[in-house]
Amino acid sequence: MRIELPKNVERFGAICFGGLQKVFELDSGIENGSITKNKHIIERIPYHDLCNIYKEMAIIIPVRNERLRLLDGVLCGIPHHCLPIIVSNSPLEPNNRFAMEEDALGDFCTFTNRNALIAHQKDPRLAKAFAEIGYTEILDGNGNVRDGKAEGMLIGTILARLAGKKYIGFVDADNYFPGSVEEYIREYASGFTIGSSPYTMVRIAWHSKPKIIKSKLFFKKWGRTSSYTNKMLNKLIGHYTGFETEIVKTGNAGEHAMTMDLAMVLDYSSGYSIEPYHIVNLLEKFGGILESPLSEVMKRKVEVFQIGSRNPHLHEVGNEDHIDRMLYLATQVVYHSPICPEALKDELKREMVSRKLVKSNEDMAKPSYFPVLSSIDYDSFMKSIRSTPYAKMIHKLLSGKI
Ligand code: GDD
Repeated sequence: MRIELPKNVERFGAICFGGLQKVFELDSGIENGSITKNKHIIERIPYHDLCNIYKEMAIIIPVRNERLRLLDGVLCGIPHHCLPIIVSNSPLEPNNRFAMEEDALGDFCTFTNRNALIAHQKDPRLAKAFAEIGYTEILDGNGNVRDGKAEGMLIGTILARLAGKKYIGFVDADNYFPGSVEEYIREYASGFTIGSSPYTMVRIAWHSKPKIIKSKLFFKKWGRTSSYTNKMLNKLIGHYTGFETEIVKTGNAGEHAMTMDLAMVLDYSSGYSIEPYHIVNLLEKFGGILESPLSEVMKRKVEVFQIGSRNPHLHEVGNEDHIDRMLYLATQVVYHSPICPEALKDELKREMVSRKLVKSNEDMAKPSYFPVLSSIDYDSFMKSIRSTPYAKMIHKLLSGKI
């Protein structure tokens, strides 16, 4: 991969927020001894370096009732040395979609000679393990793991941590182009290679989303949700720096990756609000606005890379209600942040009222939040899930039996 380093880096407390980076070559070849240790404006990351990261990276795929063909394509795009982890919330009846996903993953692993993990979000053994370790925020009133993409992502993160992975990357299961999945993961690994902090996040700005308009393909750059979310997050940042900014380009980045160290110290919010909340929570914890609960991280730095992918992103398109819901969820996490200034709160509320997503006399509902994953007792969690196929697979992976 040949990629430019961020030309523009904005600093907030311990956070170094990098501007959008351009990719020049998806494959820049193998190492030939010409690499220098000095950083250039454009960095060449040989395949070997990417591969070293892949070996320590889990790719988490949250799935809910997606077409199997798409899931199969996504798996095919995951580089060989990464560990795929599927967390599914697909129906178990009347048709057992989860069993079909298990079969598809089983075939993939057989044909490619790979290992992978798959878990169902509603597996009662997972719910019991969460209850036993006291991580009950993830459970609903009936004691089951809640629905939601973020909830699936958290389970995937915990399994990756148990499997000893140093990096986690997320890809959606409804992607039509396996080549774009492979590109995102290359970009994750490139970000980790360029980054110098153990607390690093890589967020992908999709090249475009192709749409058919008047019988012609149109490559739309910004969707309705992403334009709105980016603007809102930039306003929040601008309020504190006193300078209007456009630094945030990836407020809703479903495709993103983190070092495990960073994943362990962030708080999370539910469902589709998780990605904008990453930025809000980073600012809350490490932006130097509030006192940081983690002086250790403040002494280092948190690096955020935003990389512009080259493949168009073609996925299952949600309807208007779905998009409105995502917009509302993103607004909630900014609105309810202790660092959201009153003026921005008023503006957000007015915006939600004008979009008819909230009534003027109603309060903005609070999202559910999940505490840091470093608070979990991983040994106890592993003991609780030891009878599951995914715990057995983790055990085999760690003991080097496979
Ligand atoms: N495990 C699990 N549990 N997965 C889920 C759930 C759930 O309850 N709900 C959705 N998913 C999976 C979907 O199957 C898909 O693989 C992925 O999460 C994203 O869900 P979509 O419903 O397809 O989201 P989207 O395409 O509208 O939005 C995506 O892009 C946005 C950026 O434009 C998501 O990644 C958003 O989070 C992102 O902000």
